[in-house]
Amino acid sequence: MKKIPVWIDTDTGVDDAVALVLASKLEELDIVGVSAVAGNTSLENAFRNARDVLSLVGREDVKVYAGADRPLFIKLFTAEKVHGSNGLGGAIIPLSKAEIEKDKAWDSLYEKAKELKGELVVCAVGPLTNIATAIIKHPDIVDLIKELDIMGGALIGGNVSPCAEFNIYTDPQAAETVFRSGIKVNMFGLDVTEKAYLNDEDCVQIASYGNKVSDLFRDSNESYRAYQSKMKRKGLCEHDSCPIMYLAHPEWFEGHECGIYVETQGTITFGKTVSDLWTDYKFEDRHCKAFLEVDREKFVEAIKEAYRSF
Ligand code: BDR
Ligand code: CA
Repeated sequence: MKKIPVWIDTDTGVDDAVALVLASKLEELDIVGVSAVAGNTSLENAFRNARDVLSLVGREDVKVYAGADRPLFIKLFTAEKVHGSNGLGGAIIPLSKAEIEKDKAWDSLYEKAKELKGELVVCAVGPLTNIATAIIKHPDIVDLIKELDIMGGALIGGNVSPCAEFNIYTDPQAAETVFRSGIKVNMFGLDVTEKAYLNDEDCVQIASYGNKVSDLFRDSNESYRAYQSKMKRKGLCEHDSCPIMYLAHPEWFEGHECGIYVETQGTITFGKTVSDLWTDYKFEDRHCKAFLEVDREKFVEAIKEAYRSF
């Protein structure tokens, strides 16, 4: 089987960690690089967590690069309530012994994109600061990336304001740079990721597998579980696993071609992803696909399988 070469850009919090675990187990994927960005937590935490989670799953061979420690223009807004002060909900795992990569995320991503001559798929599950910086610094990268699969945005609603989702709200200027770049964007927003949840029974099951990776799941998700139940959600939304899972199982997802703009102004609309999907007015720039549905049962089973197999 020809594997999909994927680069993962992450602000390694608790659901990012699940996505990394999943990616390490999906045989359809070849993880060719990982970059860290500030978002859920500081860059320092995100970088260390990405390295340590990869080490825990036996993938110290995957190189991890540090990127932006703050958004392009605005102050960093983190999410400690969900991800804890270390980004992993307070869970402690062994430090990776892999050599520390010194190159910047955007330069390494560019080099990898050139090496793969248009075959590279980028999966970005944090604020889009690193990807925007790569586009600004290396404009020809837009023709070298096959597609960009992002967790971010929402056609309806939001989780940090009535109409904005965290990853986009944290750096809307970066997001708009990426959406306007011409790269084909598959957007996994809250519309679909809130349907991709693990209920209490699923969480208890994963926590019972008794291996070091399922122990991390148990220990890192306590604050996230408490937060979700306070918000009266059905369970733990595995936002960041959606674009990763899509790469291996596109048939489990339903999306629609559309145009998407990011609102970078305004007090209430700041960070909103505006789509032309349900209007007669169509934007000129329509190279996005917004995903709205997922086969939750299959999605959950694949996550469980990943954790069971360690
Ligand atoms: C997104 O924000 C972060 O808190 C999660 O890791 C996910 O990428 C959900 O809005
Ligand atoms: Ca994330």
